[in-house]
Amino acid sequence: MGKILLTGGCGYIGSHTAVALLEAGMEVVIADNLSNSSRDVIDRIGTITGKKPLFYEMDVCDGEALSRLFSQEKIDAAIHFAGYKAVGESVAKPLAYYRNNLDSALTLLETMAAHGTRVLIFSSSATVYGDGTPPYQEDMRSGICSNPYGWTKWMIEQILKDAAQADPTLSVVLLRYFNPVGAHESGLIGEVPRGIPNNLMPYVSQVAAGIRDHLNVFGNDYDTPDGTCLRDYIHVTDLARGHLKALEYALDHQGTEIFNLGTGQGSSVLEVIRAFEQANQLTIPFEIAPPRPGDLPVSYAATDKAERVLGWKAEKKLEDMCRDAWNFEKKLR
Ligand code: NAD
Ligand code: UD1
Repeated sequence: MGKILLTGGCGYIGSHTAVALLEAGMEVVIADNLSNSSRDVIDRIGTITGKKPLFYEMDVCDGEALSRLFSQEKIDAAIHFAGYKAVGESVAKPLAYYRNNLDSALTLLETMAAHGTRVLIFSSSATVYGDGTPPYQEDMRSGICSNPYGWTKWMIEQILKDAAQADPTLSVVLLRYFNPVGAHESGLIGEVPRGIPNNLMPYVSQVAAGIRDHLNVFGNDYDTPDGTCLRDYIHVTDLARGHLKALEYALDHQGTEIFNLGTGQGSSVLEVIRAFEQANQLTIPFEIAPPRPGDLPVSYAATDKAERVLGWKAEKKLEDMCRDAWNFEKKLR
């Protein structure tokens, strides 16, 4: 078998997926411009697996550089993680988001076509369900996205579906992630937010580390059991395993398939705080703050399709996610 290209493979989800693929005996090539990651991730992946992925420092929007990579390596399949992902920033800088996310996907797709690579897995997001009613089923009509980041995911999904429709030899898998959290149990790779974290788990970890004095809980008057929002948190190593299953499936099929990668369980913000405190034997000071504009009260996945078709199911519990997130945070300091 040839090699698997991971665009954005130095990032949070890509690095964990690189570990899962290398441990399954696959050869991994990473292309990343390090705009939201660092080169030492390559060494850390090597330390964990005993195998170092090939690394190309490059912008995936650079068609010539990407074509050179495809000429040098025999790429059987690509997993496209590269892109910008901060929701708030996408509202402030929509053109940068449309440019980077759409351009990288189009450039990859064109380069794959020119070099005869037929298999593509794409990092989509539960955000494409908009304000539909959970549990979100893959065949639900996707909703209206509330920000440019979400629209880039929605648009790239559409582009990939159209490309696979026009070329029946293509195999495309769209993976809709729910809320990836936690880190590799070694504590060597994990999520490194730049600046003040927007997402809950990195923020909680920084409160635990004493970098922030308390967590603001965004709203406690939602129509949920304890009034705070419910999300489907999934351990990043479970998510990484899902990519391996999706890849095996895609290498064996043609056309487009969509899979949710979530646990199917909603946890509230207060439950996350409690689980973090219990798993790590510490206290997370928090205050109730006004709701965050654009937040959905409840979001969780229907997981039956991934289980039935891919034979994949998330295994790790919220306590595991909290323990591994804190283990990584401690090693960062
Ligand atoms: P990340 O920022 O940690 O990783 C993305 C990587 O892509 C980074 O290493 C960055 O340097 C690189 N990159 C960005 N633009 C590039 C370009 N033009 N050329 C080359 N490299 C480029 O993000 P992540 O959390 O690992 O997310 C991976 C993918 O999954 C993204 O597409 C993201 O939108 C999607 N996703 C993430 C989440 C989440 O909660 N983390 C949820 C749903 C979907
Ligand atoms: C965010 C993104 C979403 C993306 C998802 C996964 C927004 C509006 N949405 O959603 O598009 O797909 O991440 O990457 O950013 N919370 C607090 N205090 C905090 C931080 C968060 O109470 O300091 C709450 C939020 O209100 C929410 C929950 O924690 O209820 C989870 O928040 P977050 O981690 O940002 O994920 P999402 O809201 O699901």
